[in-house]
Amino acid sequence: MLILVFVLLSALHVHVLCCNQVDRDSLLSFYQQISSPPQAPLNWSSTDCCRWEGIACSRYRDRVIHLSLPARGLSGTITPFLANLSFLSYFNLSRNHLSGPLPNRLFHALTRLQTLDLSYNTFSGLLQPPRSSESDALPSSVQTVDLSSNHFNGSIDPSFFNRASSLISFNVSNNSFIGPIPSSVCMGAPLVLILDFSVNHFNGQILHGIGGCSDLQVFRAGFNSLSGWLPHDIYSAKKLREISLPNNHFTGPINNSIVLLSNLTILELHVNELTDCSRLKTLLLRNNHFGGEISTLDFSKLQRLKAIDLGNNSFVGYIPASLCLCRSLTAVRLAYNQLVGEVPPCVASLKSLAHLSLSDNYLSNVVGALKILKHCDNLAVLFLSRCFHGEKMPDDYDLLHLNGFQNLQILTLGGCKLIGQIPSWIAKLRKLKVLNLSYNQISGPIPAWLGDMPGLFVLNLTQNFLSGELPHEIGRLPALIADNASSDLSYLALPFLFDSLQYDRLFNLPRGLKVGNNSLSGNIPAEIGQLKLLHTLDLNDNNFNGSIPDQLSRLVNLERLDMSGNHLSGEIPGSLAALHFLSSFSVANNDLEGEIPRGGQFDTFPASSFEGNPKLCGYVVQRSCPVITQVDMSTEDDEESSWYPVPFGLGYFVGFFAVSITLLFHSSCKAFLLT
Ligand SMILES: *[C@@H]1O[C@H](CO)[C@@H](O)[C@H](O)[C@H]1NC(C)=O
Ligand SMILES: *[C@@H]1O[C@H](CO)[C@@H](O)[C@H](O)[C@H]1NC(C)=O
Ligand SMILES: *[C@@H]1O[C@H](CO)[C@@H](O)[C@H](O)[C@H]1NC(C)=O
Ligand SMILES: *[C@@H]1O[C@H](CO)[C@@H](O)[C@H](O)[C@H]1NC(C)=O
Ligand SMILES: *[C@@H]1O[C@H](CO)[C@@H](O)[C@H](O)[C@H]1NC(C)=O
Ligand SMILES: *[C@@H]1O[C@H](CO)[C@@H](O)[C@H](O)[C@H]1NC(C)=O
Ligand SMILES: *[C@@H]1O[C@H](CO)[C@@H](O)[C@H](O)[C@H]1NC(C)=O
Ligand SMILES: *[C@@H]1O[C@H](CO)[C@@H](O)[C@H](O)[C@H]1NC(C)=O
Ligand SMILES: *[C@@H]1O[C@H](CO)[C@@H](O)[C@H](O)[C@H]1NC(C)=O
Ligand SMILES: *[C@@H]1O[C@H](CO)[C@@H](O)[C@H](O)[C@H]1NC(C)=O
Ligand SMILES: *[C@@H]1O[C@H](CO)[C@@H](O)[C@H](O)[C@H]1NC(C)=O
Ligand SMILES: *[C@@H]1O[C@H](CO)[C@@H](O)[C@H](O)[C@H]1NC(C)=O
Repeated sequence: MLILVFVLLSALHVHVLCCNQVDRDSLLSFYQQISSPPQAPLNWSSTDCCRWEGIACSRYRDRVIHLSLPARGLSGTITPFLANLSFLSYFNLSRNHLSGPLPNRLFHALTRLQTLDLSYNTFSGLLQPPRSSESDALPSSVQTVDLSSNHFNGSIDPSFFNRASSLISFNVSNNSFIGPIPSSVCMGAPLVLILDFSVNHFNGQILHGIGGCSDLQVFRAGFNSLSGWLPHDIYSAKKLREISLPNNHFTGPINNSIVLLSNLTILELHVNELTDCSRLKTLLLRNNHFGGEISTLDFSKLQRLKAIDLGNNSFVGYIPASLCLCRSLTAVRLAYNQLVGEVPPCVASLKSLAHLSLSDNYLSNVVGALKILKHCDNLAVLFLSRCFHGEKMPDDYDLLHLNGFQNLQILTLGGCKLIGQIPSWIAKLRKLKVLNLSYNQISGPIPAWLGDMPGLFVLNLTQNFLSGELPHEIGRLPALIADNASSDLSYLALPFLFDSLQYDRLFNLPRGLKVGNNSLSGNIPAEIGQLKLLHTLDLNDNNFNGSIPDQLSRLVNLERLDMSGNHLSGEIPGSLAALHFLSSFSVANNDLEGEIPRGGQFDTFPASSFEGNPKLCGYVVQRSCPVITQVDMSTEDDEESSWYPVPFGLGYFVGFFAVSITLLFHSSCKAFLLT
């Protein structure tokens, strides 16, 4: 028995530890033609080649399956005997100093090869011998081929990919290939995800074929001598995330179909001669990783440009004055970049400009900007939030005799830490619908004339140093009383983000009055109850006193009512329970007393909505109200049963809608160009 085990073990030993003779011979031949650094020599002298550095054999057989010696300081050439490693599946000699051509018929022989990485060497010569046949094509097993950063030359014959049905990634960048890009790769290799042909001498047109790679995600062919039009079928590779073709000689238009590439986030086409770009009308590159000095972009050839959206990229530098040469411009978004300097004076000549968004940059001179922009007679939308810092609020002296901005509908100057008062030139903006001056350092009173602005339906003055009373005139804002002024159904030139939701029409904006986080005092004017179109009313964190006006119950569209952090006293009007859309309500930290109303949405508000009012009582704050003596027991029982909250108030549905809309917009496409 023991003997048998011993025999078995030794048989196994021999079988596992001694590599196949053919493999050993071809490895030794390889070893003889290379040299390793003397301080770290490659020692392939033991009998079992499966134990050599960089070698792995199959588990139960003796065949070499891995040859992996990346960054090992090797130099020399590759022996033709290597083609005898017919079980090799992983072959990585990346980052050595190996040179010379690859052996003929290497790819033909390695029929189990899956991964080939010879990148960063100095291999040269042709991939296939001249007039080669299919026998030199990539094997059908191969998935990853990286021959990048070598000195390979010649052209890549279409037949090279004839058998490569498993190919996923093919990188030949940074070589000296010539001839056409082998678009046929997609016929042989439909599964391919990555193609990198960049930094070579490929020339001619890219022929149809790339579109056959329906899974293609990355296509690079920049820094070649490619010319002609982009092939139309590239737009049918719908999964493309990156098309990088800079520094070629492409001409012609970019096809509208590029909008079909919904996942495209990187589109690099600079330094091409896309001559027909002079016809380009819309350039939409929002939410990309484009960067660089924006002032070097020359817009002078894009005379027909109507809309440009470079928002949410990484551009630096000054707003380019050449933009002013695009006389037809109606919409410009440069928001969310790192632009510096001032608005160039020539912008005043853009008479068609309707939409300008410069929010979230590092610009200076807000006074100068408004003095220039008031000449853009058609300006309807002006986003300047978080773009200036700590300057003076442009006052009436700065904008003396203002007669511009007569079409302005949206003005945002939030988050700029502007100092000063609310200037009365704003009263002259007769079409203004949305005014955002939140997160500044504006002091003084809220002017009564705001209540007479005919179209205003979003007023955001959150977090400033405003003091005095909230003028009762605010309660007559026409556009919050009747639908007249705000029911403009027209689409804006560019969709915009508003409280993290994307809108393309002003009409859809939630109407709001936000004066939270100021130093306002006095009573809450009962006239506010007339603003029955209001969705949001924020009065929180001020010094309001007195009682909550019963009239607020007329705000039948109200979804959010925040009166927390004031000195309000008295009872919470029971009539507020009639506000069926109210999903967010707070009177926390006041001096309120009595019983918290019951029924309607009030059964859904949490205790935190009422905390900090020690004199409030009711089930939700777990303080029982003093029992009134003449109440008979039966009705009290009935009332007990109405304590239980109604689980699905309307507020729940409103919240659900908001989430669905957000999700919809998040799946929208990232970048596209239109001709
Ligand atoms: C190579 O390794 C063998 C043992 O496996 C050792 O005997 C020999 O001296 C080594 N040769 C060099 C040059 O280090
Ligand atoms: C190994 O490769 C060489 C050169 O390609 C060839 O001449 C030889 O016949 C091969 N040996 C075997 C056993 O396949
Ligand atoms: C080759 O080896 C290098 C170094 O370990 C590694 O970074 C690279 O990913 C390998 N190549 C492939 C295709 O696995
Ligand atoms: C390719 O490179 C080899 C070696 O560097 C050179 O001899 C040959 O002429 C080159 N062929 C072409 C077509 O450039
Ligand atoms: C191709 O290889 C080069 C290195 O030679 C590398 O810089 C590049 O990122 C690779 N391409 C892709 C698409 O991974
Ligand atoms: C291009 O290839 C050469 C030779 O292998 C290498 O030295 C160089 O770093 C490569 N360049 C890039 C950008 O990868
Ligand atoms: C745009 O591409 C489609 C195919 O995707 C093609 O039918 C159409 O002719 C192209 N349009 C232009 C203007 O080139
Ligand atoms: C875009 O990317 C997402 C997330 O990676 C993926 O789920 C979706 O299928 C892709 N769309 C296309 C058209 O490939
Ligand atoms: C900016 O773009 C990135 C994707 O590139 C996206 O994740 C992010 O939400 C965008 N930010 C804004 C404010 O649109
Ligand atoms: C209004 O300003 C605030 C504070 O900067 C900002 O968070 C918000 O996005 C602005 N709203 C619009 C529509 O610009
Ligand atoms: C709304 O328009 C009607 C007629 O179109 C007019 O009678 C009414 O006064 C307007 N209301 C407001 C608040 O402007
Ligand atoms: C208004 O102010 C709020 C703070 O309550 C801020 O978060 C929001 O972005 C601003 N909204 C609009 C529409 O300007």
